[in-house]
Amino acid sequence: MSDHNQVKITTMDFSKERPKAENPLKIQDVTFRDGHQSLFATRGRTEDMIPIAEMMDEVGFWALETWGGATFDAMHRFLNEDPWERIKTLKRYIKKTRFSMLLRGQNLVGYRNYADDVARAFVERAAHNGIDIFRTFDALNDYRNFETVVPVIKESGKHFQGCICYSLTKRRLGGKVYNLEYYVKKAKELETMKADSICIKDMAGLMAPYDAYVLVKALKDAVSVPIHLHSHFTSGMASMTHLKAIEAGVDILDTCMSPYGFRTSHPALGPLVMTLMGTNRDTGFDIKLLASINEILEREILPKYRYLLDDTKVSIIDTNVLVHQIPGGMLSNLVNQLREMDALDKLDKVYAELPKVREDLGQVPLVTPMSQIVATQSINNVLFDDEKERYKMITAQVKDLCYGLYGKTPVPINPKIQKKALKDYPKGEKPITCRPAEVLEPELDKAKEDVNGLATDLEDVLIYALYPVTGKRFLKWKYGKEEPPEKVMPRTLEDVKAEQELIKKALAGKLIEKKEKVVPSKGNNLRKFNVFVDDEYFEVGVEEIGGSPIVSYIQQAQRQIPVQAPVTVAPTVPQTAQGPQAAQPAPEKPAEPAKPVITASKKMESDTKGTPLKSPMPGIIVNYKKQVGDSVNTGETVVILEAMKMENALPSPASGIIKSINFASGDSVARNDVLCVIG
Ligand code: CO
Repeated sequence: MSDHNQVKITTMDFSKERPKAENPLKIQDVTFRDGHQSLFATRGRTEDMIPIAEMMDEVGFWALETWGGATFDAMHRFLNEDPWERIKTLKRYIKKTRFSMLLRGQNLVGYRNYADDVARAFVERAAHNGIDIFRTFDALNDYRNFETVVPVIKESGKHFQGCICYSLTKRRLGGKVYNLEYYVKKAKELETMKADSICIKDMAGLMAPYDAYVLVKALKDAVSVPIHLHSHFTSGMASMTHLKAIEAGVDILDTCMSPYGFRTSHPALGPLVMTLMGTNRDTGFDIKLLASINEILEREILPKYRYLLDDTKVSIIDTNVLVHQIPGGMLSNLVNQLREMDALDKLDKVYAELPKVREDLGQVPLVTPMSQIVATQSINNVLFDDEKERYKMITAQVKDLCYGLYGKTPVPINPKIQKKALKDYPKGEKPITCRPAEVLEPELDKAKEDVNGLATDLEDVLIYALYPVTGKRFLKWKYGKEEPPEKVMPRTLEDVKAEQELIKKALAGKLIEKKEKVVPSKGNNLRKFNVFVDDEYFEVGVEEIGGSPIVSYIQQAQRQIPVQAPVTVAPTVPQTAQGPQAAQPAPEKPAEPAKPVITASKKMESDTKGTPLKSPMPGIIVNYKKQVGDSVNTGETVVILEAMKMENALPSPASGIIKSINFASGDSVARNDVLCVIG
């Protein structure tokens, strides 16, 4: 059988029509999912897929990956888009080509194992709405985490593609854990589970071309279902890896349309089509059609997303990935997170910490959610550990992993770390060894109750069940119960043009325009503060609305000097700083950036006597474990903060009574914001 797939190079007679290949290579396009997930932080909007949707349907793809992975999260969190609507909308334009989604096994499209009832409902709804192929993976390659979703995929009459996450023990295929035997064994397990195809998921682009040859050949010999390769370009090897995989007889490859290709994404389709033209694996795709799709993307779509491209370096490849093994999407999150924490200088330390944490946690493959779990813990270790103590701040997810809630790690977890993580763990200090979801209580009925009156169907409930904090916030936006913030609104090409104009003007030093800001009316609870900045003196009014205080107005009290505002060239935020009388103090020297005058939370710190619990990192408040008036002991958990998708239990810095709580569940907080005060 593998002979049949082998590439024969035949000389093309270009005067004749292009002959049809005996065994065309099948292609899945991943532009609509992994493409923008890898390059543009999953910010691609449905409206920007529609202009090429019908043309994509004409190409002849094996499937289009349109959903899953981080799309569900990013859509409801950042784009104010209902994730379910994306499948329904695209189905109206794409009628012939099958849709595939990336399903994280029992993690579904989230970051933990969900209960069986949620998993069943989710897969059933996804199939119902138009997902045809379920590319299913488990971050630990523990296929017990497939046992609930696979029967639902099969009952829905859909294609179950089983994944093997590709990881390495050292630099190349082989070694103690991730050797050829490991992958062959996993492929056989998947075939036993009735996989319709098997995907090798090389999420970080670690697969070397000759390893691909050996691996694909071994898998083709070991199992009879089609072999599909998903290899990211990150390290620069993927195009070569593709070619060697084709020579070894791979059946299906993943590619992107050119503007969404390369970098941390996938090899682009065009060059591959040309490479195979005239061989027995010719895709048969029309290169002109591909070019016209690329042109629309390039001209009409990509300008809106360009600002998200990491343009901090010239190279489009990163061979460091061969050392740290962090997938592309994760890498940009990690850098962003460190930047927001003012700790970008610690990046090298985090890179050095990663392999240690990975080994401690059982040499896990670095794929969602394990990549986030390992990366966040590495950041925590670098930022909070000292010579005396390692793993000072252990995330909830690391504790869950140590308990066995994600499944079985490829090698055992470091027992010392495991013991430390499970100290006072609510479910018990002895780890489980069964299929993780067996210890999870059903969750769906509770979720239905929680969003009763807000959710109108099961799909709404699932958004909440998967993402309680941001999901609920989205449902409030969706049903007009809350106004979505400006930043979740789409950008138009006009916005982009206007922005570029502004940047141009700013660079030329000609920028003085400024949008009017609406000043809220002063309420009864307004308190006034005097603030001194250099020689200037301001009167500042602060008023508390609901849970969190807001700065109501800042008035320059001494002199009113109309000056040109300083311009910070920030392509994403075109607003500049010269305000009408109220919004911001105008500094005297135009060349200097405006100094931060006061922030609400810092004010709270000075206002309430006691020990502040400051946020160690930017994030979203999941919930407070204590209320105002409760007593706490040093080290007791006060608040759960979500950062980089991971939950951190923040301990009380002192013993005493909770004097004030400054935020509420769902609020975004910056680093050093005072979350509460203990007195
Ligand atoms: Co991928």
